[in-house]
Amino acid sequence: MRILGIETSCDETGVAIYDGEQGLLAHDLYSQVALHAPYGGVVPELASRDHIRKLIPLVEKVLQDSHSEPHQLHGVAYTAGPGLIGALLVGATIGRSLAWAWQIPAIAVHHMEGHLLASMLESPAPTFPFLALLVSGGHTQLVQVEQLGKYLILGESLDDAAGEAFDKTAKLLGLGYPGGPALARLASQGNSHRFHFPRPMTNRPGLDFSFSGLKTHALSTWQTHEQNDQTRADIACAFEEAVIDTLAIKCRRALQQTGLKRLVIAGGVSANERLRTGLTQLALEMDVKVYYPRPIFCTDNGAMIAYAGYLRLTAGQSDSLAFKVRPRWPMSELSQLQ
Ligand code: KG4
Ligand code: ZN
Repeated sequence: MRILGIETSCDETGVAIYDGEQGLLAHDLYSQVALHAPYGGVVPELASRDHIRKLIPLVEKVLQDSHSEPHQLHGVAYTAGPGLIGALLVGATIGRSLAWAWQIPAIAVHHMEGHLLASMLESPAPTFPFLALLVSGGHTQLVQVEQLGKYLILGESLDDAAGEAFDKTAKLLGLGYPGGPALARLASQGNSHRFHFPRPMTNRPGLDFSFSGLKTHALSTWQTHEQNDQTRADIACAFEEAVIDTLAIKCRRALQQTGLKRLVIAGGVSANERLRTGLTQLALEMDVKVYYPRPIFCTDNGAMIAYAGYLRLTAGQSDSLAFKVRPRWPMSELSQLQ
């Protein structure tokens, strides 16, 4: 079974083709970073218009790269939410129309489920059940994954997502957009002993997170010290360490609580090297196996949507002719499939 996957939930146009027997045949991505950079963040209307421009040429390219003809495809998977409504509508409309024209099913995929399953594109792939730490620009969640579609949210951020906290802190330090990777680069030049930031919500039981206070802490530290490149790097370093340490503390707790022996890390922030190192160390201590997608599949991409669509179609999901989008869509509402 061969599936075309389309991702347009935010500022990347991602397209891929996944084949059940041969694996990932081709994938490509068009990033809108340069388009949004002058505005310091994603401008939703510009994002939608750019997806319209880029999506069909990207589909044509990926069909070519994978040596696939439309008649060899068995389904079109598209991100139906959560995300920016205009951006989602572009992928949904084009994906649904292609499926209709080619007379094959369309599969509406949950963006975070795509992230959750992305490490299954790697070898060795994790098997169910596992604990997943989802850390993206919009979500921070600890999820007990029993099987496809059976997700128990054990904890989540009560305010800013981890990626959002990276982006906002980067912005207040003058690092521009997109902030996360820039802040991580700067942090590697910082002195980790100069500042110590709090580890929010770790001194009480539970698996929820709160990251908005760290950004405020970074701002007040910046305002009360000599503002130079070293201070900026030292704050970046202390901030990054606090986020990673907090995530690791909660992962340890969730692994202890559930007894799960596999930990999957996914979403844009899982591309962070120090986070990967920290969680690998934790996994080693706890005799747990840890799984990550390759860096390009940590952030938004079409491959994870093609793969999630493949699993769902194989498990019997089929969607109506509607262009289904849900800008807000709790993962706990997903249907469980066998
Ligand atoms: O998963 P993703 O591409 O989009 C969403 O679904 O939100 O995640 C994007 C987020 C952004 O907040 C970005 O700053 C963050 O992931 N990010 C990073 C790194 N690479 C991307 N944060 C910290 N360190 C990184 N290396
Ligand atoms: Zn994402």
